[in-house]
Order: sequence, then C-alpha cells, then structure tokens
Amino acid sequence: MDIKRLHVAYFSPTGTTERTLRLVAEGFGCAETVWHDWGDPETRALPLDCGADEALIVGMPVYYGRIPSLFHAGLPVRGRRTPFVAVAVYGNRHYDDALLELKTLGEQAGCVTTGAGAFVAQHSLNPDMGRGRPDASDAAAMRGFGKALRAKLDGVSGEVPPLDVPGNAPYRAYQPTPFAPALLDAESCLHCGLCARVCPVRIIDPETFLVSAPERCLFCFGCVRACPVSVRGPRPEAAEAFAAKMAGLAARCTVRRDPETFL
Ligand SMILES: Cc1cc2nc3c(=O)[nH]c(=O)nc-3n(C[C@H](O)[C@H](O)[C@H](O)COP(=O)(O)O)c2cc1C
Ligand code: SF4
Ligand code: SF4
Repeated sequence: MDIKRLHVAYFSPTGTTERTLRLVAEGFGCAETVWHDWGDPETRALPLDCGADEALIVGMPVYYGRIPSLFHAGLPVRGRRTPFVAVAVYGNRHYDDALLELKTLGEQAGCVTTGAGAFVAQHSLNPDMGRGRPDASDAAAMRGFGKALRAKLDGVSGEVPPLDVPGNAPYRAYQPTPFAPALLDAESCLHCGLCARVCPVRIIDPETFLVSAPERCLFCFGCVRACPVSVRGPRPEAAEAFAAKMAGLAARCTVRRDPETFL
C-alpha cells in the first residue's frame, strides 16, 4: 500500500503525547507528514478529511482509563477507509479501556485500524509516577513501532485486516474532578499568558488569568505545568486531599510498565 501522506493528530496538554507521536512518526518516515494539534479548539472544529491513500495516527493521554472527555462523542475526522493508528500515553498506572475507545472512535469516523500502541510517560498529575519517561528505551520502542507500522502498510495490498486491542466495553466510568486548578498567587504572576494559551478549552481569562468556568475544566494540568513560576494548582482547601490521593496512587503503581504495541 503506497501511503501518500501521514496525518498525525494529538491532544497533549502537558506535551508527552506529542513527544511520543513525534518519535513514532520519525520511525514511520513519511516525506509528507501533517500535524494537527487538537488542543486548539479551532483545529478541533474542522473535521480532518483523510483518504484511503493516506494514514492517520491519533494520540491521546489516558484520563481515568479512558480518552479525555472532550472526545467521548467522536473524533473530528472524516476517514475514507483510511489506515488508522491509535496511540494511548499514560502515567504508569494503566491505560484500561483508552486504546479500545480510541480505536472504536477511529473506526466510527470511517478509518480502518492498522496498529495501536500504549506508551508510558511521566504522570501529568503526579511526577513521581513514570518519572523520566519516556526514556531512551521507550524512545527506541516508539521509533520501532513507527517503522513496523510502515513496513506493515508497505506489505498490505487491498484491505487492512481487522485488529484487536485490549479493553472492555462498556468503558470505565469517567470521574469528574473536585481539584480544578486555580491561580493561587496573583501577585507573583508574570502575565506571560502561557496558561491561557495552553488551556484546551480556553477557560483562563487572558487578562486576569483567573479560571472563568471551572465546571468545564478537564483537569489536564496543562496550565499548572506551563506556568514558569508555579502559581497555579488545586485550591488550598483541596490541596491536602489532592496530595493524599496522588500519594496513594503512586504507592499502588510502583512497578515499571513497558510499551505495548499491536500490529
Ligand atoms: C485527569 C487525568 C487522569 C489521568 N488518568 C490516568 C490513568 O487512568 N492512568 C494512567 O496511567 N495515567 C493517567 N494520567 C496520566 C496521563 O495519562 C499521562 O501523564 C500522560 O502522559 C499525559 O499526557 P500529555 O503530556 O500529553 O498531557 C492521568 C492524567 C490526568 C491529567
Ligand atoms: S484550566 Fe483546566 S482545562 Fe484549562 S489548562 Fe488548566 S487544568 Fe486544563
Ligand atoms: S502561566 Fe503563570 S505566570 Fe504566566 S500568566 Fe499564567 S499564572 Fe501568570
């Protein structure tokens, strides 16, 4: 199968999913690769049209064993039997149903799944989990996955055979969070605007840097990790409960998890 163009779409508030996909795409090695940042509401608003002679890799972080809620209703994709690759990036707990959910949504959008991968990165809520990941061995696995995908597609003539991935439907229940981050110290704020620019749902006021609609917060921690002076985080009244929850999670997830790929 001759792939004319590779589309890579990602949602990556703290950057590790994007980093993973850059390594996978490097391994795939397509001369024409087009990147789509679904953290930008304007990009999400335009359905991505892909043909049968193109391939599409979609990467999402795992949130509560699912893909982020912004995409539960569907991907902004119009495929035409387009070979599709689902990539889930998670913080060394587990990816649970996220890979199955992403694969199913890709197929509902008109694509045909040809590969899937689950990779570990530092946990965006708790840096003690998956600290330093992806490391050199993860990076080699990501590049190797891209290379193997390309070899698989090069060897296919006609229809891509169906692919099974782990996961269960109905998917895990999604947990709304009581820990939405806020601006904690307005006096130390540099007014750099990074938090407002990174917020995937644009609920941070670009002048005051206060959160205007906390009920829409995804709890992605993009604003927290982007802030150069660390003045964003869960409100003081929730901070202790949040820290206890994160410490409990880290204590239950001490075993290193390795990349898993499906081709
Ligand atoms: C709200 C939320 C829920 C998460 N749930 C999980 C989870 O169920 N399992 C897991 O291993 N990691 C979980 N993580 C960690 C992220 O999947 C992981 O850090 C990922 O690398 C973040 O991707 P990004 O850097 O592209 O934003 C969660 C992170 C957030 C913010
Ligand atoms: S306000 Fe919420 S949705 Fe926006 S970047 Fe911060 S954590 Fe993410
Ligand atoms: S990222 Fe931090 S310093 Fe920059 S505007 Fe936002 S709160 Fe202020």
